[in-house]
Amino acid sequence: MNKLQKNDVTPEHIFYQRRRIIAALGAGAIGASLPKITLADTPNKASLSSLTFKKNNDSTLSLTPENKVIGYNNFYEFGTSKSDPANNAQHLKVDPWTLEITGEVENPFTLNYQQLLTTYPLEERIYRLRCVEAWSMVVPWIGFELARIIEQAKPTSKAKYVVFHTLHDPEQMPGQKDYFLGGGIDYPYVEALRLDEALNPLTLLSVGLYGKTLPPQNGAPIRLVVPWKYGFKSIKSIVKITFSETRPQTTWEKLAPHEYGFYANVNPQVDHPRWSQASERVIGSGGLFSIKRQPTLMFNGYEKEVAHLYKDLDLKVNY
Ligand code: MTE
Repeated sequence: MNKLQKNDVTPEHIFYQRRRIIAALGAGAIGASLPKITLADTPNKASLSSLTFKKNNDSTLSLTPENKVIGYNNFYEFGTSKSDPANNAQHLKVDPWTLEITGEVENPFTLNYQQLLTTYPLEERIYRLRCVEAWSMVVPWIGFELARIIEQAKPTSKAKYVVFHTLHDPEQMPGQKDYFLGGGIDYPYVEALRLDEALNPLTLLSVGLYGKTLPPQNGAPIRLVVPWKYGFKSIKSIVKITFSETRPQTTWEKLAPHEYGFYANVNPQVDHPRWSQASERVIGSGGLFSIKRQPTLMFNGYEKEVAHLYKDLDLKVNY
């Protein structure tokens, strides 16, 4: 049940083997081990609730099948194989949960689990998620604009960056206890955006997908989605958002700065040292013997909405 097509993973097996060695040496890399092809028998075991949200009918993108979205994941706190999060995250306790908003703001506040789901009107946004490993999915996310939280927090004039922190709980997240299982990452996972990127209307805090609350493997109860950036910016299971004057070192930048930059804008003209970014495998497409590849678009297809944010930046230097 829920098996990925072999073709979803085999074309990159040589890379994956190399990356497993790199991770073992401590350098780390996204997807550091060979993904298992078999998925959890019941990847959706955690109890999920239906959400009420405004439907968005604008998108012409075809959705990735739900079983791929919830079965082929990167969430290194639960292991580095694509099937590990679905297998290992089911017992993540998401209620009670506290999201703390703090730092350079006039109005620090917290939200509990219920408030995450009910404080801001929810809407569906169909976005393409493009991973730096050169695959993509199209997901019907449910959430609200990060801008809602920023408006409520009222950043001070010192606030230049918005910083996100994932839960740090080695008892629940085995990858935080075991260096190799967790891909050599120094936890907790931290990500950040410039304040203007965070305020862009595309930037979403997601609490659900496919009409229901987020499964643990996709970052329950709340995760970021920044559709014009590589997937690693879309941090999962957030417990704290801080506003800061200085740019923090983010998780992947810290681990391998020559490979992962702070900006991480999807850019087909700037290759990752180990993966061409010119095209991408479309997860869930094709049959047993083929998987669709498509050209990668500048800013993942969201150029019109975000190119202005980077008009003074050399994107080759600021990758
Ligand atoms: N957030 C945390 N806390 N830990 C992670 O390992 N992986 C990132 C991102 N968010 C990751 C994370 C990467 S590399 C990707 S591609 C996306 O989550 C994958 O999201 P998905 O599993 O919902 O497709």
